[in-house]
Amino acid sequence: MTPIYSSPMKVGVIGCGNVGSILAERQKSFKIVAAYDSIPERVAAFSDKYGAKPFSDIDAFLQEPLDIVVEVASINAVKDLAEKVLLAGRDLILLSVGALADDAFRKELLTTAKQLHRRIHIPSGAIMGLDNVRVGKISRVDKLFLKTTKPSRSLNSNESVFKCLFAGKARDCVALYPKNTNVAISLSLACGREADVELWVDPKAEQNMHEIFFEGEFGDAYIRIRNLPAPENPATSYLAALSVLSLLESLDSPLVIGA
Ligand SMILES: NC(=O)c1ccc[n+]([C@@H]2O[C@H](COP(=O)([O-])OP(=O)(O)OC[C@H]3O[C@@H](n4cnc5c(N)ncnc54)[C@H](O)[C@@H]3O)[C@@H](O)[C@H]2O)c1
Repeated sequence: MTPIYSSPMKVGVIGCGNVGSILAERQKSFKIVAAYDSIPERVAAFSDKYGAKPFSDIDAFLQEPLDIVVEVASINAVKDLAEKVLLAGRDLILLSVGALADDAFRKELLTTAKQLHRRIHIPSGAIMGLDNVRVGKISRVDKLFLKTTKPSRSLNSNESVFKCLFAGKARDCVALYPKNTNVAISLSLACGREADVELWVDPKAEQNMHEIFFEGEFGDAYIRIRNLPAPENPATSYLAALSVLSLLESLDSPLVIGA
């Protein structure tokens, strides 16, 4: 049988920022052959450093012989470009998951993917537990609650006291804090039920923390994730970049665990 992907896998990256650079630094069994960014200087610098072919034109980028496209850019990039990626016949890894909070957009995208036999992969990002939260789609769930606590600098906040900035449904939190709650949408989509969310600012905190409370027919679970910044880039959750890297490294493996 013909292998699904080339060896090494040819990857195109949309977004030459923090996460994109970590992927490029750490590529092993895949090769980033093309890069696209809306800021020409960013893509030029990325290309000089990592050898990927630079693009400022998405159509030209998608004409490259890519096995898969990785979006590590923004919610707007997903809204503007994800369908084009699928229509070009490429699978897609998508990190700016907040874009999928828009029901109409998500349904249209999934319809396109299904019609074209393409797949959209959502990495675990800055949290853990997306694998087993899927039981929510086939059994009763009584509670899915995400409490995110971040230092003031992560939220560009001037708050001097520990304070709840938001309490409500996942999609409303994403609308107000698009960069900070992608994981709330990942959890909701994995479980098939919209997560309840609280977002807290803690001026004394040093790192981002996510706590997941999950209860249902199966029993209950509590997962706490404390994210350290990437060693080479303090602006990014290391786990989020690692989750994309580990997904890319495992896509071609004959053994699929917990995914
Ligand atoms: N799911 C998760 O757990 C998780 C965790 C971390 C980051 N993220 C998301 O991943 C994305 C990348 O994070 P980052 O820290 O690397 O961001 P970043 O700001 O460092 O880099 C993003 C890059 O994408 C480019 N870009 C933005 N919008 C674009 C568009 N419409 N078209 C083309 N290029 C565009 C920017 O110019 C920039 O170079 C963000 O949306 C972030 O919210 C998700």
